[in-house]
Amino acid sequence: MAFSLPALPYSTNALAGQKMCQETLELHHGKHHNAYVTALNGLIESKGLAGKSLEQICAEAGKAGADGAPVLNQAGQHYNHILFWQVMSPSGGGDKLPARLAAKIDQDLGGLAQFKEAFKQAGVTQFGSGWAWLVIGTDGKLKVTKTANGANPISTGEGTPILGADVWEHAYYLDFRNVRPDYLGNFLNNLVDWSVVDSLLASGGLKSGQSA
Ligand SMILES: [Fe+2]
Repeated sequence: MAFSLPALPYSTNALAGQKMCQETLELHHGKHHNAYVTALNGLIESKGLAGKSLEQICAEAGKAGADGAPVLNQAGQHYNHILFWQVMSPSGGGDKLPARLAAKIDQDLGGLAQFKEAFKQAGVTQFGSGWAWLVIGTDGKLKVTKTANGANPISTGEGTPILGADVWEHAYYLDFRNVRPDYLGNFLNNLVDWSVVDSLLASGGLKSGQSA
C-alpha cells in the first residue's frame, strides 16, 4: 500500500464562480497536495509507517512532539487537504444549514453568525501557515480551533475535524492576494457545502481510507 492523491470531487474550474479559480485548484491540488503525498510515501519505510492508517499516523506523530514533526508535516497535510476538498462544492455557500448541524451549532457555539466569526478569527489569527477548524471535541461538543503548519485536531488530540480552512498562502494568494480575512469570509459564505459538514457530524468525521 501507499498513499495516493484522491481526485478532486469536482473539476478544477468548478469553483471559479465562487472565487477559487482554476489555476488555484490546479496548483493547490495537483502540485502542493501531490507533493505532500509523494513526500509521505518517501517516509513509509524509514519511519516505520507501513500498515498504519493516515489518521493513526497523524495521532502518533502528534504525540511524538518535535520528533514526530517530519512525519506530521506530510501526513497532516495529506489528511487536511482531503477534508478541505470535500467540504467545498459548486453548490456550497449560503446560510441554510441542515437542521441537525444548525441545531448543534446553535447549542454549542451560539449560532451560525457567532460560529462564522469565531472560525474567521481563528484563521486570521493563525500566525504564518496553518488551518482553522470546526471540531467535534473529545467531550462531544463542537468547538472552533486552529493549528499551525501541517498539524490538525487529530494530531493535537482536540477531537475530530468536520470543517477545515487552509490558511497557507498557497490557498488564497491568486484569488485574494494577501487578504486572508476576505478569503475566509468567501470560504464560509460561498464555498462550504454544509450538507457535507452535516454528514461528517453524523458519521463522526472523515474516514480517509488512506493507509501506508
Ligand atoms: Fe494547502
